[in-house]
Parts: sequence; structure tokens; C-alpha cells
Amino acid sequence: MAEKRSDSAGTKIKKNNAPSVPAGTSAAGTADLPEIPVSRYEEPASVPDTPPAPAVSEPELPQPRRSIAFIGSECYPFVKTGGLGDVMYALPKALTRQNCDVKVILPRYRCIPWKYQEKMVYRGEFRMDLCSDGRSFYVGIMEYVWDGVVYDFIDNEDFFSSGNPYTNLIDDIPKYCFFSKAALAALNYMDWIPDIIHCHDWQAALVPVYLRTLFAGTRVSSAKVMLTIHNLRFQGIYDIPTIKYWSGLPDYLFDYAVLKQGHDDANMFKGGLAYSDMITTVSGTYAGEIQSPFYGEGLDAHLRFHSWKLRGIVNGIDCDLWNPEKDELLASPYGPDDALAKKAENKLALQEQLGLERDEHKFVIGLISRLTDQKGLDLVNFILPELIDGNTQVVVLGTGDVRYENSFRYYENAFRGSVCSSIMYDEERAHRIYGGADALLVPSLFEPCGLTQLIAMHYGTVPIVRETGGLKDTVQPYNEYSNDGNGFTFDRYEAWLLLDAINRAKTLYFTSRDRWNEMVLRDMVKDVSWENSARQYRSLYLELKP
Ligand code: ADP
Ligand code: GLC
Repeated sequence: MAEKRSDSAGTKIKKNNAPSVPAGTSAAGTADLPEIPVSRYEEPASVPDTPPAPAVSEPELPQPRRSIAFIGSECYPFVKTGGLGDVMYALPKALTRQNCDVKVILPRYRCIPWKYQEKMVYRGEFRMDLCSDGRSFYVGIMEYVWDGVVYDFIDNEDFFSSGNPYTNLIDDIPKYCFFSKAALAALNYMDWIPDIIHCHDWQAALVPVYLRTLFAGTRVSSAKVMLTIHNLRFQGIYDIPTIKYWSGLPDYLFDYAVLKQGHDDANMFKGGLAYSDMITTVSGTYAGEIQSPFYGEGLDAHLRFHSWKLRGIVNGIDCDLWNPEKDELLASPYGPDDALAKKAENKLALQEQLGLERDEHKFVIGLISRLTDQKGLDLVNFILPELIDGNTQVVVLGTGDVRYENSFRYYENAFRGSVCSSIMYDEERAHRIYGGADALLVPSLFEPCGLTQLIAMHYGTVPIVRETGGLKDTVQPYNEYSNDGNGFTFDRYEAWLLLDAINRAKTLYFTSRDRWNEMVLRDMVKDVSWENSARQYRSLYLELKP
């Protein structure tokens, strides 16, 4: 028999003992899904206990313990389109070392590789009201535990069955209204009430709004809520009637102080920022920049208003995942002791693989990026022909806007043997470029943090970056007088300044190799791990007393 419960959020939660078909899911819609072992679905719907989190008694673990629910739209290795996926994987892992008990809540997209899907364990299901007309939807919870972190996937084929996590706003707005509400309902259902709910980007930005309105008075509302801005460019903006319908949120929230923007639009990120107890972004410089009109993407005034609760904490990288010493994807793994010789071997292997002229004396510049205007690609396109001087090679890896994909294809054709453009998403190739290139370009127009420059430094590949956002906070410019710094930088968004920075790098490489090599080693030992930043997040969690 079904047991019906209605929490004070007006969210009807129905626990079933028998598995049910997701609402509105046709048989045709499920036909090409991989077959899921029946035994996993036939487990009783009662909620099994979460496996106990690692012991906490070690004296070196900071006290007190905190529990955190991460809510976001992507997470490596299940699904990743950019740095958000890296952070959702690496930060929870680092937080477990700071005595935090972390659960990551994600959509169960159909595109998650089957090798992970088949290991997920059924944790329960219920139905949830969503829309303003009371339409209700199936919510399934599938769980996966890995490396001390619990991953709970919200299941519903109506919303999560397309090939990519993000498609277009017409689909994405309902998808992430559903996801945000279902994530909170799932916490209540599992009776796992964290101290902190930590949401990421616009896709999870309605979580704070739901928490303090429709979920007020339910158990989960005792949690404090933090919202991290990874990229303010994407905000989840659509007309008010659509967002009102799908979110089921009350009329009074569609006000300028919360969700309303312009004449008739609603902005999901804006609402989340208003209702969060704390806002963070992924570098101190970006935290300042977004309060100005140029970087604020229309929300600078809103952010200035909420600046008292805005902080910047720079990202790190997962040094197990990105470890040149143990990286099996490299032709020749290396550490600081043998980097100089081994990087040359990796360069030769990369040149061979990509069809470039094999010559360890060439200066190889890498670019690994989403191909969008955020990444400063107009500057790169403008100066690329100037770089090809017989001593320099350029290796591009990325996908994105057609205009950039085509311009890089054009350059590969025009400068065969010196330029290689891999218009694809390929983790393996990314590792080889980090290992085999001499320098990595990140000339972004804006960059909330940026991870590629961090990975590059860890692999002894010298970053050449524009001084913006996290690039400014993580790459100390080379100083030829004191012979210190980690890379080459330029300030204004101008192509000739980028060219000048690259030329300064080349000059050092070709005329003062000892100094160049010292920088390579300095970069490799620089601390780019998550440890320090995870400690800062922990302090913020402690500030947010339940
Ligand atoms: P953003 O999140 O803005 O795309 P970041 O620098 O924070 O930028 O993170 C980008 C992440 O995605 C890095 O891990 C980088 O190695 C990876 N990446 C970007 N493009 C590709 C690609 N084409 N193939 C493989 N990895 C990529
Ligand atoms: C965003 C930003 C990038 C940042 C990443 C992870 O995608 O563009 O700068 O590193 O999120 O926080």
C-alpha cells in the first residue's frame, strides 16, 4: 500500500512499495534505455541506511564535523562539460579530509556511462508536485558511494533523457526547476538533513528559494544554504509565466528583489542569490569583478546589494587525478626530478600523435578550452599567424561555437605541421597536451577561476594568461629582475598584448633556458591542490551555524 505524506511545503510525497513508471514516461520513451538489472529495482522502497561515513575520531581531523549536501548539474566522472564537473568531484573529496560528511546530489542523465549506472543502488522513489497547476512527477533516487563521498542521482526520464545535460532553455528551465525541488524533497525523503546545502550555478539556484518558501518548516529547512557562482554568464532567464508555471513558486517571489528581471523575465540565479545565506564565487578577483557592470552580466547591482555575504575562494585541482608522476595517459610520466628530460619525450610523442613536425626544440603552445568568446579566442585568432615562425607549434583542443571551430580548422590547414586543431572533447588528449606542451594559453575575456592554468602548472607547462578573475589570483607574472613568478600575463583585452606575452615567453625559452627550466620546476611544486581552499570552505560552513 502506498503511504501518503504531505509536508508543509505542499510537496506530496508518496512512498510506494512497488516500483512505478515515471509520470508521463511512455513505453516508447524507455525502449532504448539500457536494461537495468531487475533486482536493483525490486529492492523494497524503504530507505536503507546510508553507509556510515568514515570514522571521525582521528585527532588530526578538524572539529566539529559538518554535513554538506552538494547540489549541482554535473560531476566528473559521471558527466562533465567543463570546470564545474571537476569541482563537484574534487571539492567533496577534499572536504572529507576536513571532517565533512558530503552527499552530492545530481541529475541521473541518461548519458552517464553505463559502467556507473549499473553500480547505482536504488534508494527509493516518491511523487512530487511541481507545477503551478499541481502536476506531479516521479522522483527516483539512485545511489553510488565512492571514495568516502555519497552520490545520489535524481531519476526521472521525462527530464533527464537527452544526450547532453544541457540542451536549450525551453527544456533546461523545467529540468532544473524539477531538479532543484526534487533534490530538497529527496533530502527530506531520505531523512538526511545536512548542516549546509551547497548549491552550484543557476541550475541549482532555485534550491535556496524553495528552501525558504515552499520547504519552510520542513525538516530540511534547518539547513543553511550557500550558492557558488562558477560562471555568471549563464543565469536561467526566461519569461515569468514559464518559470512561474514550472517552479510552482508563489507570485510574490516574482518581484525585482528576488526573481524578476527587466519587464517580463524571471532570473533563477538572481532568486537564488537573494535567498542564500552565503554566496561564494571561485576567486577573490572575480568576486570583486562581478560587482561591476562589465563583469556583472546584468546582476552587478544585485550582487553589490548582497555583497555582505559574498566571498571568493579559488579552486584547486585533484592531484590524484592530475598527477604527472602517475599519469598513465602520458607517454612518459614524470615528477619534478626528471621533468625536464621527460617533458621532451612527451612533446615528441604528442607531435607524432598529432601529425606535427617532430622536433623537441620547437616551442609548443597548447590551448584546451570550450570554444566560446569567454576564452579570449578572438585574440588568439587574430595573432595566430604571427606565431608561426618556424620555431613554434600550436595545439588546440576544444569544441564549441562553430565560428571558432572553423577558424582553428582553417589554421590547421593553412599551417600544416605547425598547427593542430582537435575539434573534440577528449580527456586523454588533454592529459597529453598538458604533459607535452611547453606553454598553455588562457587569454580569457573573463575567467571566474580557470582550471587549465592550474593543471598546466602542475604538469610544468607554463601558463600565458590574461590578468582577470582566477587567472590573476593563481598565476604570478614572471619577473625577470627577481627571477620569480609562474607564468606570463597581460592585462587589457588586446591581441597585441597577448602576442607580446607569448613573445616574452618565447624569448625566455629560447635565450635563457636555465631560467625557463627553473620556472617549470617552480610551477610543478606550487600548491594548486584543494587542501587550502577546502579549509576555507569549511570555515565558511562553520560560520553558517545551523
Ligand atoms: P570552464 O569550466 O570555463 O570550461 P575551466 O578551466 O574551469 O573552464 O575547466 C575546464 C575543464 O575542462 C578542464 O578540466 C579542462 O581540461 C577540460 N576541458 C576543456 N575542454 C576540453 C576538451 N576539449 N577536451 C578535454 N577536456 C577539456
Ligand atoms: C566555470 C568557469 C571557470 C571555473 C569553473 C569551475 O565554468 O568558467 O572559470 O574554473 O567554472 O569553478
